[in-house]
Amino acid sequence: MRLSDCYNFHDFRELARRRLPSPIFNYIDGAADDEITYRQNAASFERCDLVPNILRGVETVDLSTTVMGQKLAIPVYCSPTALQRLFHYQGERAVAAAASKYGTMFGVSSLGTVGLEELRRTYSTPQVYQFYFHKDRGLNKAMMDRAKTAGVKIMMLTVDSITGGNRERDLRTGFAIPFKLTLGGMLQFAIKPQWAVNYLIHESFKLPQLEQHVDMSGGAMSIGRYFTEMLDPSMNWDDVAEMVQFWDGQFCLKGVMSAADARRAAEIGCTGIVLSNHGGRQLDGSRAAFDQLAEVMDAVGDRIDVMMDGGVQRGTHVLKALSLGAKAVGIGRFYLFPLAAAGQAGVERALGLMRAELERGMKLMGCTSLSQLSPENVRFR
Ligand SMILES: Cc1cc2nc3c(=O)[nH]c(=O)nc-3n(C[C@H](O)[C@H](O)[C@H](O)COP(=O)(O)O)c2cc1C
Repeated sequence: MRLSDCYNFHDFRELARRRLPSPIFNYIDGAADDEITYRQNAASFERCDLVPNILRGVETVDLSTTVMGQKLAIPVYCSPTALQRLFHYQGERAVAAAASKYGTMFGVSSLGTVGLEELRRTYSTPQVYQFYFHKDRGLNKAMMDRAKTAGVKIMMLTVDSITGGNRERDLRTGFAIPFKLTLGGMLQFAIKPQWAVNYLIHESFKLPQLEQHVDMSGGAMSIGRYFTEMLDPSMNWDDVAEMVQFWDGQFCLKGVMSAADARRAAEIGCTGIVLSNHGGRQLDGSRAAFDQLAEVMDAVGDRIDVMMDGGVQRGTHVLKALSLGAKAVGIGRFYLFPLAAAGQAGVERALGLMRAELERGMKLMGCTSLSQLSPENVRFR
């Protein structure tokens, strides 16, 4: 199986499965507890049907959107994800390059493996910095200052990870940073030597967003310990209101689900929210973001930009979310499997297929610009 054999999410997933040591594949593919939310995320789009219009003259289609003050050429962005250079040695560089080529924004995770400054210097499309809230308030401010100096346009505070999700696949393989693999996990690395060679001959593993601020000497600070020891589970609305003021720019919360929280986010000055359950990796049993979208749009759609992510695998999924009012839609595994399968070429192919599906979908819906999509275009079963 080669990259040119990949036509959809499932093909990329399969190619990634073949190329990655299974502990890494399962880290990407896995989710919390019984993975019900993970499955529901994709299933939620199947409970909703598109209602097209005909005979509207759809020769050219404009897929551009403006979200949180950023003009994007397509209404899909690469949501921030951790540890990308573990999946493919090109990591964030590949994702940023592909996002730039397609004129869309990309997120850089606090747990990213390439520095946000380098990415900002090299690629011109808008960059989101995904941030966690630390106990040390000075550290929070220092990290925001650093992002501002680097030229980051959008601050995205993840609010659904106050504690780690129970990812049982990782417990079984022993996936952790630094690696603490079980014997079975180690064997899985041994049978994928190509991955290991690439990992070893390229730049050593780093977490540049954190290493300036957090003592990771000797690999002693595992990501688990980072979450339990440095992040602040007492974070509340007042803390975040202070951050929003300090940032004084585009600021969104990622992981909002209830209409009440969406209203509160608007009240404290956030300019956007991302409805998200973290790809099903945190609270299993949590509702799919797509199912929550209409309710949240009713509550705050006229006040702030609403985005969503989770389970997006097709252009038509994006069109359904935009019909309900989302300004843009985030993808996670949709670009991570292509990254793992083939680096930058993989992510470019995935985004290219997405753009083609969006364009075709728009024409078949009878629409030439995204603003023509409305709740009239969808029905729930
Ligand atoms: C392997 C992996 C790592 C992730 N790392 C982060 C992260 O560091 N910060 C964050 O806010 N979200 C993270 N996410 C969540 C994504 O940003 C996004 O919300 C989610 O993947 C969307 O679901 P999807 O994968 O079904 O598209 C991660 C997701 C995956 C699959």
